[in-house]
Amino acid sequence: MKTMEYHNPVLLKETVDGLNIKPDGVYVDVTFGGGGHSKEILKRLGENGKLFAFDQDLDALENTIDDTRFTLINENFRFIKRFLRFHGVKKVDGVLADFGVSSHQFDVAERGFSTRFEADLDMRMNQEKALSAFHVINEYEEGQLKDVFLQYGELRAAPAMASLIVAHRESESIVTSEQLKSVLRKFLPPRHENKVLAQIYQAIRIEVNQEIEALKEFLSQTPEILNENGRLSFISYHSLEDRLVKRFIRNGLFEGEPERDMFGNFEVPLKKVGGLIVPTAAEIKINNRARSAKLRIATKA
Ligand SMILES: C[S@@+](CC[C@H](N)C(=O)[O-])C[C@H]1O[C@@H](n2cnc3c(N)ncnc32)[C@H](O)[C@@H]1O
Repeated sequence: MKTMEYHNPVLLKETVDGLNIKPDGVYVDVTFGGGGHSKEILKRLGENGKLFAFDQDLDALENTIDDTRFTLINENFRFIKRFLRFHGVKKVDGVLADFGVSSHQFDVAERGFSTRFEADLDMRMNQEKALSAFHVINEYEEGQLKDVFLQYGELRAAPAMASLIVAHRESESIVTSEQLKSVLRKFLPPRHENKVLAQIYQAIRIEVNQEIEALKEFLSQTPEILNENGRLSFISYHSLEDRLVKRFIRNGLFEGEPERDMFGNFEVPLKKVGGLIVPTAAEIKINNRARSAKLRIATKA
C-alpha cells in the first residue's frame, strides 16, 4: 500500500489557510485519508495545539502521524460531537473536511470504487459495514434502485436501468463490476461511456456509504462545536454535496428558507468567509482529482 502515493491533497494551502489557525487552538480534520491536510495543520500548530482526525476506513489508520498533539479516530464523522466528547473536547477552533473518496480507495481494485478495474461490487469506505454495492444492486427493490440512480446519479434513464437490473437478477446475481456494466451496456453510449459509468458508480457509492445522511448529520453539529471565530473549511466534489454545504452555510438549513422575524431578518448559525474557491488550472494539471473540487469557508455568525 505504501508503494503508491496514498493521496495528493487538494487545495492544500487554501483549505488550511481557511482555518485561520491559532497556534494553541483545537482543530479537527474529519477526512484524514493520507493525512496531507492534517500534516499541514500540525505544521502551523504550536506545542499546545491539538488536532483530532476522523476516518472510517481502516486503511487510513496506517497513515497515522506520530505526534503527541495528534489523535486519529476510526469513526464516521457523522458522530463528530459524540467522539470529540469521548476525548474530552466540547468546542473546537476549526473543522476541515475534504469529502468523498481518496485516491487510495480508487486505486485499490478490490475496493470496487473505480470504473477502471474489474472487481466484486463493494464500494464500502468502512470495510466493517454490511451494506455494500452487491447488496444495493442485488437486494434493493426496483423503486429503491430507481431512486438511487435518479437522486444520486442524476441519471434520466434511472427507471429503465432499475428495471433491467431487477429482470436480470431473477436468473443470476450481479456479482462483479463487469457484469453490472454488461447488464447496463445499452445505457453506455460509446462516446460517453466513462461519464455515464461514473454517474452510476457515484450513485451506488453515495448510497452504500449513506453519504448524504452522514453529511447532513455532520453539518448540523458544526455550529454547536465551534468556538466564537472558529472556522469551517470544506471541499466538496459533486453538486449534491456542494449544494448541501452551501445551503447550510447560508441558511442553517438544507432546504427552504429560514423563518424571518417581523423586520424581515433571520438568524443563521454560520456566515461565509470569502467566496467559492476552486483549484487553478496548474493544480488540476498535476492532480486530476482536483478538477471538480469546490472549497467553501465559514465562521460562526
Ligand atoms: C478525499 S479523502 C481525504 C484525503 C485527505 N484530505 C488527504 O490529504 O490525504 C476522504 C477520506 O475521508 C474518508 N471519509 C469519507 N466519508 C467519511 C465519513 N462519513 N466519516 C469518516 N471518514 C470519511 C474516506 O475514507 C477518505 O479516506
